[in-house]
Amino acid sequence: MNEASLPEMSLVEAIQQRRSVRGFLDTPVPEQVIDQVLSLAQRAPSNCNTQPWKVYIASGAMRDSLREKLVQRAMSGATSQADFNYSHKFEGVYRRRQVECATEMYGEMGIARDDKEARMRAGLRNLELFDAPHVAFIGMDKKFGTTIALDVGMYAQTLMLSLTAFGIGSCAMGSLRHQPDIVREAFGIDDSIGIVLGLCFGYEDKTVAANNTRVGRETVADTVVFKT
Ligand SMILES: Cc1cc2nc3c(=O)[nH]c(=O)nc-3n(C[C@H](O)[C@H](O)[C@H](O)COP(=O)(O)O)c2cc1C
Repeated sequence: MNEASLPEMSLVEAIQQRRSVRGFLDTPVPEQVIDQVLSLAQRAPSNCNTQPWKVYIASGAMRDSLREKLVQRAMSGATSQADFNYSHKFEGVYRRRQVECATEMYGEMGIARDDKEARMRAGLRNLELFDAPHVAFIGMDKKFGTTIALDVGMYAQTLMLSLTAFGIGSCAMGSLRHQPDIVREAFGIDDSIGIVLGLCFGYEDKTVAANNTRVGRETVADTVVFKT
């Protein structure tokens, strides 16, 4: 990897600057930069260094075709065929945070809570990849459970921080895992591989209202228990 082309951003800055980007410019990320970012992401830790992540990236015509198929499938009213279960309903404090997040995002987008049609259109923007020129699908062997999914999550975050360090926006997307057959067919992926999440990336379009979304975090004191 040519480290000379790394931008000047500390890890602390990358962590502080990373946020979900939901509107992108057409401008593709140069291949060499994508290679560098992917090399960095490979540094993610994993159980016994098994490196279980499988990554499939679509750009150009492949990205266009995937986007069209994902949108068409959603418009047909198809139900989720996700490879890994996501059946929990958020309650209590988790529900509060979920609502706060949606309120902030839809507020920036000027969408009222009871405007179902506008919310549906906003949901569809996920499958339109928020116009990102690149989308990564990150998967793992279907045999693996939550323990190994942790490794995939660590890969995804390492990838997003690396993208941030290069001035590239991204959004992790659970919404891209619901029709994995479309992804497997497009990339010729064996049926033994399940899709855990999608992740779109590219240069942020700062004129998109959704990109003004800023969500907070609980304090360390609310999260961490110290004992001596
Ligand atoms: C596994 C995962 C799946 C996500 N799926 C989506 C998604 O489908 N659509 C979306 O707009 N944001 C998605 N997000 C982004 C979260 O909403 C976002 O990370 C959270 O609100 C915190 O905001 P921030 O990333 O700007 O700090 C996802 C994030 C994660 C980690």
